[in-house]
Amino acid sequence: MKMKPIISLSLIILVTTGMIGLYSFTTDGLKSELQVQRTAAMNYQNFCAGCHGANLEKFAAKAWMEEKGNVLAFNSIKSGIEKIGMPSFQKTFSDTEIEALAAYVKKGVPEDKSLLKPAVTPGGIVESEVQRFVVDTVVSGLKVPWGLVFLPEGDLLISERSGTLHRFSKGKLSAPIEGLPPMMTVGQGGLLDLALHPDYKNNGWIYIAYSSLRSEGEKNFSNTTILRARMKGNKLEDKQIIYHGNPETERNYHFGIKMAFDGKGHIFFGNGDRGQHFDFPQKLDNTNGKIHRLNDDGTVPADNPFVNTPGCYSFNLELWSQKSAGYLYPSCHRRTLDYRTWSKGRG
Ligand code: HEC
Repeated sequence: MKMKPIISLSLIILVTTGMIGLYSFTTDGLKSELQVQRTAAMNYQNFCAGCHGANLEKFAAKAWMEEKGNVLAFNSIKSGIEKIGMPSFQKTFSDTEIEALAAYVKKGVPEDKSLLKPAVTPGGIVESEVQRFVVDTVVSGLKVPWGLVFLPEGDLLISERSGTLHRFSKGKLSAPIEGLPPMMTVGQGGLLDLALHPDYKNNGWIYIAYSSLRSEGEKNFSNTTILRARMKGNKLEDKQIIYHGNPETERNYHFGIKMAFDGKGHIFFGNGDRGQHFDFPQKLDNTNGKIHRLNDDGTVPADNPFVNTPGCYSFNLELWSQKSAGYLYPSCHRRTLDYRTWSKGRG
């Protein structure tokens, strides 16, 4: 008599553990399948969308879209097709990741192939909203080129995020230009944007944005900084720091920065939120997560918003755009750095 309940209890336990086991097995299976898909989607956005479009619309209609399985797509992603401008990803991804990417693009290309607008191919003519242009390789062998300006005589100045500045002249890349300050060349930090003063021909000012570096024992602190200098031969001289973001932090990401001049004596640029979007941009007591407008020598224009607010740095984009019902982005795109928005906000 006494045996019965014990047996049924142990049976219940057995069944329950079996079910838990089965349950966790299926959720694990589902989870990893979901994870693979998510990772493929993320990899696509980070590595492919720039050429193939965020919605996979920039592919040419080709055989790989019609094949059973994903072998053609897999091979193209892995080995690349150099002559048509498709890079190889075998050093970037494992075979499993490439398989997931192949499946992702195969599944994601629009059914209606007439919606496709193929990616830019070398030598092909591209029509953008405002310009027709041809894509060609001018300089190769650079590590993450970040900023680029044309000097009046046609040479290029090129910054590499890893902290080197080169002059590209008559098909040749110069030795690194000397005289750059110390930088935090980690993560998204390093040597960033370049800009020439609108009157560069007469005053020679080159504006150089970078992530500063201040070490305290083991710790490194940094923020977005702008130096202006003149180039004499292969060296920077007459160096002046016209802007230094505040406060510095140990984070090595979200520095910004693009610089633009309005031709009326002002420079505009964005200081990134330094990875703290929840606090820095919300307050006026720091420079981070804001668009700044300074005189070209780094002084603060007397007609800046909040100029009389004690302890305030420049102005806050969010507050400002609420007022002006428009946005001001640090970019040279014709629609973004729009001074009508700026002056409307001030009026
Ligand atoms: C630098 C630009 C660029 C990047 C980045 C790029 N592709 Fe391509 N890819 C091309 C071009 C150009 C083609 C040729 C035109 C076409 O077939 O759409 C191409 C072709 C392809 C093809 C078809 C190849 C064939 O067999 O004909 C696949 C599949 C493909 N890309 C997948 C990817 C995936 C996945 C990524 C990201 C991991 C990626 N591409 C990143 C430019 C790029």
